[in-house]
Order: sequence, then C-alpha cells, then structure tokens
Amino acid sequence: MVFVPTSESQAVLTPALTDDEVLRIRNDFPVLSRSVGGHPLIYLDSGATSQNPLSVIEAEQEFYEQRNAAVHRGAHLLAVEATESFEDARETLAAFLGAGADEIIWTSNATEGLNLLSYAFLNSSLPGAGAPAARFALGAGDEIVVTEMEHHANLIPWQQLAERTGASLRFIPVDDAGVLDLEAAGGIISPATRVLAFSHASNVLGTINPVKKLVAMARQVGALTVLDACQSAPHLPLDVQDLGVDFAVLSGHKMLGPTGIGVLYGRSELLNALPPFLTGGSMITTVTMERAAFLPAPQRFEAGTQKVSQAIALAAAANYLTETGMDRVHAWESLLGQRLVEGLATIPGVRVLGPAPGQERIGLASFDVAGVHAHDVGQFLDSKGIAVRVGHHCAQPLHRRLGLTASTRASTYLYNTTSDVDAFLAAVAGVRAYFGA
Ligand SMILES: Cc1ncc(COP(=O)(O)O)c(C=O)c1O
Repeated sequence: MVFVPTSESQAVLTPALTDDEVLRIRNDFPVLSRSVGGHPLIYLDSGATSQNPLSVIEAEQEFYEQRNAAVHRGAHLLAVEATESFEDARETLAAFLGAGADEIIWTSNATEGLNLLSYAFLNSSLPGAGAPAARFALGAGDEIVVTEMEHHANLIPWQQLAERTGASLRFIPVDDAGVLDLEAAGGIISPATRVLAFSHASNVLGTINPVKKLVAMARQVGALTVLDACQSAPHLPLDVQDLGVDFAVLSGHKMLGPTGIGVLYGRSELLNALPPFLTGGSMITTVTMERAAFLPAPQRFEAGTQKVSQAIALAAAANYLTETGMDRVHAWESLLGQRLVEGLATIPGVRVLGPAPGQERIGLASFDVAGVHAHDVGQFLDSKGIAVRVGHHCAQPLHRRLGLTASTRASTYLYNTTSDVDAFLAAVAGVRAYFGA
C-alpha cells in the first residue's frame, strides 16, 4: 500500500500494482516481447502513444470478421449488430468518464475534439447562428484563457478562434517549478473570460493541475471550461461530473486503444445548444433544398460514416483499464514517476523539468542533458532498446519559458516495471560520457 496524492492533492490510501502483476499485464501486450537492436524493448513513450493489449486488437478484428456494417442506417442484421456494439461502446466510455452516453461524441482524436469545439464556437459567432448559440458567441472584449503549459492542440484552435472573432487570448503562466501560478490566474480570469481551456496533466512537465480550483474560478465569472484530459484519462480515475468541467477531450491511442478514435465530452445542455461543426449525412432530422434541421447530441456532431471498429476497440481498452483499476494504475505510475525523477535528479548534468522529486506528478519525466542535444540522447537510448520521445513535444511556448528548444521525455504506463525505469536511468547516466560532454 502507498499513499498517493490524487489530482486534487488529497492523500488517499491506494494499493498500487505490484511488479508481479505488471509482469502478468505485460503478457497481454504482444509488442512488448519484441527486441530492438538486439535488446529487449523498453517502451517509455506511452505519453505519445500507448501499446494495445490483445483484447483491444481482437475487438477490432472480431468486428471486421463478424459485424462490419455502417451504423444507424441499415435494415439488415449486421447493421443492427454494428449499431448495438457502437452504442454499447459509447455507454462504456460514458461510464469510464462519469458522463451520460448522450454526452460522448466520437472524434478522431483530442485535436479534432478541440477543433470541433472551437469551430462550433466560431459558428455561434456568425450572423444567423440562432438564439441558443448566443451563449457561445465571442467578439471584441471577450477573452479566452489557456495556460502556458498547453500542448499546441489546446492552444492553436483557441488562437485561431480569437483571431477570427476579435476576442483576446490570455494565458496563466507556469512558475519555475513547472506549476501553474494560481495567484496570477486570479488576476487573469475575469468577467471578460468566456472560455478557460487547460490541460489536466502536462505532457512535458508531468504536473497535475488543480482542476476543481480552476473550474471554481471560471464558474465565478460565468466562463465555460474545457479540459484537455489526454494525459490524465489514461492514467488516473477521472469523473467529469465530479470535476465540474463543461467539456473534455481525450485520445484513444493514449489509453490502450487504437489510433483514429477520441472522445469529446460535453454537458448535454451545452451540446444541444451548440451549432454543429461538420454537416452532412446522419446528423439531421429533415432536409429541404434550402435548409436542414439537426439531431440532438451526440449525432448532431457525428456527420458521415463513423469510426465504428475503433470505437468498439476503445471500449475494450476502457474495460481493460477498469478491470485493472484506475486507482491502482495511478498509484503504480506515481511510484514509477517518482523513481524516474529521483533517479534523474542524481545524474550529473541532467536537469529535470517540472515538479521536484516528492511532488505530485504523473508517471512522466522530461529532462535536459547539458551539452547533448535531445535527439542524440534519444538515439543513444534507442541503441539500447529504450524508446523515448524527443523534441518540443508540441509545446514550444512552454519550452521557450524553460529556456530550452527541446527535451527528452520518458513516459510510463501500467505495463512498465521498476526495472524498465532502472535500465533507463542507467542508460541516461552514460549519455554525457558517450558524447564527451
Ligand atoms: C496534453 C495533450 N493534449 C493534446 C494532445 C493531442 O493528442 P492527439 O495528437 O492524439 O490529438 C496530446 C498528444 O500528445 C497531449 O499530450
């Protein structure tokens, strides 16, 4: 048993997974038994994309072998079965996130979910958008607030929306420890704020942001909240209703699911007032040559043929995580995250980004090695079979704030062992000598 701080910094007693359980879990992931350059693969890049258990791979295969059909429109048995499985998958994701099924919209990934939202807001700002959409319309004098630690996916769509509507974009700064400056946030979130969009956990720093505090600040001024849950939904228990956010996005491929599928959560009342982004088949009630009337959410936001096999496979992924226990996954990864930062902090010439050892973080650590470019670090680790991510991790403004252009990131998941972390740390300890730095 270990004490693990939750995302709202309350200490809870949670039994973490054990190394033995993780070894059993690894057997479910075929790719983890391959070797790279003669070394057993050590996969520490789940922050970019996670690996898939057999149950996920088989769910997608079984769909194509048995029930492949377009959903919501066929009169034949395969179409009925495909529709049932597709809607069951929606129920599964709704339960995983603490939402209602009609609040779950399938997207291709988190990036598409955030673009869908920003374009729907833009459509609300156009003439003739209608009365229900007025609450989303932005113009001069309105402000959209993000944070300095955002992934470009949760920054650029809001930049574009601000540019097109005349609204202003502001940001909550990050302090030197890689934590959001909440005092500054108090001055930035104001009655002019209409949208507050922020990540739950940083894909660079590992910081877990205080969602409830930020939601409370936004509510006080009547602003809508958008949560980027890309780095939290896969790794910690998440209940959108309990957190109180208005919208949230995630990517399936980061939570053991396939690529090409993601989720946009929105409070039902808001989704049904929001104009659609994409229009076309499967999202209408009646159409004339001049006009169309739209279905309620979620169909209103699901124009065209849907990502059926991917949704079904994502539900298999959510089931795998639920059966393992998200609290235990979180506890395990907190241990791995601490082991990563504690180890990195002792290596001469290595600067760890984000919260110091002992401070709450997800199982992810980015770092800079003095005198060695991140790409060289990544290649050196790859030569030892260790897969990490290098570059700016789609967070250029944050790297600029930290005085860097790039960093190396190791990110864990439920299938990583403590020996994976130790092998990684031993390899990083040899980087500077290898490059003569
Ligand atoms: C915090 C965060 N937000 C958004 C994204 C974008 O995810 P995707 O490329 O799957 O849309 C990522 C992916 O790395 C991320 O880490």
